[in-house]
Amino acid sequence: MSFLSPAASPKLPPWKILLVDDEPDIHDITKLTLTRFRLDGRGLTFLHAYTGMEAKEVLAREKDIALVFLDVVMEREDSGLEVARWMRQDLDNQFTRIVLRTGQPGQAPEERVIVNYDINDYKEKTELDRTKLFTTTFAALRAYRDIMKVEEARLQQMHYREGLERVIAASTHIFKQRNLKDFANGLLLQVVALLRLEQSMLLRLRGATAIAGDGAGAYEVLAQIGEETLLTPELMAQLHAAQSNRISKLEGDTYVGYFPNNSGKASLLVLKGVEEISEIDAKLLEIFCSGVAIAFDNILLNQEITDTQAELILRLGDVVESRSHEAGNHVRRMAEVCHVLAKAAGLPDDEVAVLKHAAPMHDIGKIATPDSVLLKPGKLDPEEWEIMKQHPAVGLSILDGSQRPILKAAAVIAHQHHEKYDGTGYPQGLKGEDIHQYARIVAVADVFDALMHKRVYKDAWPVERVTEYLREVSGRHLDPRFVELLIQNMDQALAINERLPD
Ligand code: C2E
Ligand code: SIN
Ligand code: SIN
Ligand code: FE
Ligand code: FE
Repeated sequence: MSFLSPAASPKLPPWKILLVDDEPDIHDITKLTLTRFRLDGRGLTFLHAYTGMEAKEVLAREKDIALVFLDVVMEREDSGLEVARWMRQDLDNQFTRIVLRTGQPGQAPEERVIVNYDINDYKEKTELDRTKLFTTTFAALRAYRDIMKVEEARLQQMHYREGLERVIAASTHIFKQRNLKDFANGLLLQVVALLRLEQSMLLRLRGATAIAGDGAGAYEVLAQIGEETLLTPELMAQLHAAQSNRISKLEGDTYVGYFPNNSGKASLLVLKGVEEISEIDAKLLEIFCSGVAIAFDNILLNQEITDTQAELILRLGDVVESRSHEAGNHVRRMAEVCHVLAKAAGLPDDEVAVLKHAAPMHDIGKIATPDSVLLKPGKLDPEEWEIMKQHPAVGLSILDGSQRPILKAAAVIAHQHHEKYDGTGYPQGLKGEDIHQYARIVAVADVFDALMHKRVYKDAWPVERVTEYLREVSGRHLDPRFVELLIQNMDQALAINERLPD
């Protein structure tokens, strides 16, 4: 993936040199002599100190001094040496180069001092003619430059490793997401975290938006943070270009990230108000995005499979429904009412979803019930009733033996949905909590829906009568806990009936 080109490098600042000497003339001469000095296209800028004390103040304040010309004898015999010791030991500045200078020949400091304080050079002031001063400065600044290169590389590597750790943490989070919206939200949060665009930084980045493209020019906003992204013709053109050229691009201050993947769909990331993205950030984003592309594929595939399953299940339910002329939406309403009950009961989300998808199959066993029984307009005789009562066992035999959570739940539900709470139901006569919770929920939803709607053998009942009946059989036929939850959430149940009529 191609990323932004790093921002054009700004004009490089001059090298900073600190002159420390109690004789003002030395300052002037040195500055004058080095007027035309340049290294790597950078000139010099000078700071001045006239005592050891002053030198310390400047050094403590200015962090990027490349070189100090340091007089040894100032307010004291060894003022310069003390500054050198202080720099290396107390200030812990190991980078700035030091050239010692003294006016008294023969006063060279001990070798031990030169080594310990990492002093680059020792010069007598008489030696400071133009050529010698130039060579000394060149050597010291080159040394400083090389030290700083190593240091920058070390810092970069540290940042990069830190960044990689963040990428890994972010990717792990992303991979946990199972649906597209959660994924998109997670993605945005992680991108923001990755670029360290925390609250205050979001002011700089005006907004982040995750978008799905179908490859045919249709785009859907999945999630956004900060300023709203409108799918203007300009942005659509940018999205389209990103998708067809398969690249990410910064145009103006809008960055469009493209994550390629194997499905027909594409995920796109829009960052608005981007000023620049550092090379390291771009690399990290790229690594992150390659993980995102895989996660995106997984989620689309996952969603495709779940959608297919859900539709297949509803269609299976429809087969029975259409045969018994229980026109329309019985199984869909049941699934929704089960969802309401399970949520109200505080079941975890994954169980709520499993129940919702399994419930429509509860009467699948009626596939084996002959039309003469199933479609009989009046009451069933005892022989017909025996046949009808086989549908839970038939349902179990159809659904049994799978390891898939939804099918496992569906098998239990098909088998137990006509059990009664007091133990008088069929086929096993199970009682109370021995009846699986899913089946107790489905029983409530099933009876509710059968009573609220017309059947070949009965008319629809008014809601007051249904509620009254539910209270009556609560604790006998039906689990009182779920009857209570249904009555409490009756407005939701009636809204479902209205939305999904026969
Ligand atoms: P279904 O129509 O899906 O009804 C499911 C359950 O709702 C019934 O289970 C019963 O508990 C309740 N229910 C339905 N209609 C009424 C009603 O008018 N009064 C009362 N008190 N409860 C009702 P159940 O009884 O085990 O019946 C299982 C299935 O057997 C029914 O499924 C339906 O397909 C069939 N069925 C039951 N009774 C008759 C009938 O009189 N004539 C015909 N043709 N089929 C019947
Ligand atoms: C980091 O700071 O850890 C990554 C590099 C960057 O944000 O520029
Ligand atoms: C799904 O699994 O399709 C999402 C959960 C739901 O529809 O309840
Ligand atoms: Fe049934
Ligand atoms: Fe039913």
